[in-house]
Amino acid sequence: MNVLGIDIGGSGIKGAPVDLATGELAADRLRIPTPHPAKPDAVAEVVGQIVAHFGYTGPVGVTFPGIVIDNVVKSAANVHHSWIGVDAGTLFGGAVVLNDADAAGVAELTFGEGRGRTGTVLMLTFGTGIGSALFVDGLLVPNTELGHLELHGKDAEHRASDRVREEEDLSWEKWAGRVEEYLRHVAMLFSPSLIIIGGGVSKKAEKFLPHIRLDVPIVPAGLQNQAGIVGAAMAAAKKLPPPR
Ligand code: BGC
Repeated sequence: MNVLGIDIGGSGIKGAPVDLATGELAADRLRIPTPHPAKPDAVAEVVGQIVAHFGYTGPVGVTFPGIVIDNVVKSAANVHHSWIGVDAGTLFGGAVVLNDADAAGVAELTFGEGRGRTGTVLMLTFGTGIGSALFVDGLLVPNTELGHLELHGKDAEHRASDRVREEEDLSWEKWAGRVEEYLRHVAMLFSPSLIIIGGGVSKKAEKFLPHIRLDVPIVPAGLQNQAGIVGAAMAAAKKLPPPR
């Protein structure tokens, strides 16, 4: 069965139908740049364009880069503050909406690197911000927001996100040092048995992972940057009646 997943990121909004039996995209994904300012109506318009592009009429799952509880947005660190309090599910025409890192994590634990893993597993996504998804024996603790832990008196994502690497023109090695320090802090708090690194940088893991020393295994996301789309589709499929 194919379900449409849409991933709202700081720079692009990406969507594709997902084959839920395999976790693979059933068609080429469509990416549209995130409108600026990323206000609710402007973003909803892009979400609508993606749904229309695929001529899709079934359930839709959408990720959002903030805290989401029962489809309602509760925080907006990297999007316009007017999102706070918005019922994004209704705004997106009845979609299921969830935090972007949570969606990516669920997809990774089902189809990617975390498949079948028990114990404490942490997925961290490095992009415009830092997102987190925490699992215990495969069960998600939603909205953990570990990108906002404080490091050197700052939000961790203001020191170690991929956006900061680009903006400050940091070498991969220098950036890896910041990421290592952040991972050390997170590992001290949660003692995970595995850390999965997601977001756009997961495609370039060979550039920074060799510079990171930590006594916890760290792997790049198997689904790379598609994990959000896949996780969004999985969340939407949960609303469907079971197949008969
Ligand atoms: C947001 C998180 C989000 C992360 C990655 C953070 O700034 O607070 O909700 O998961 O960015 O997009």
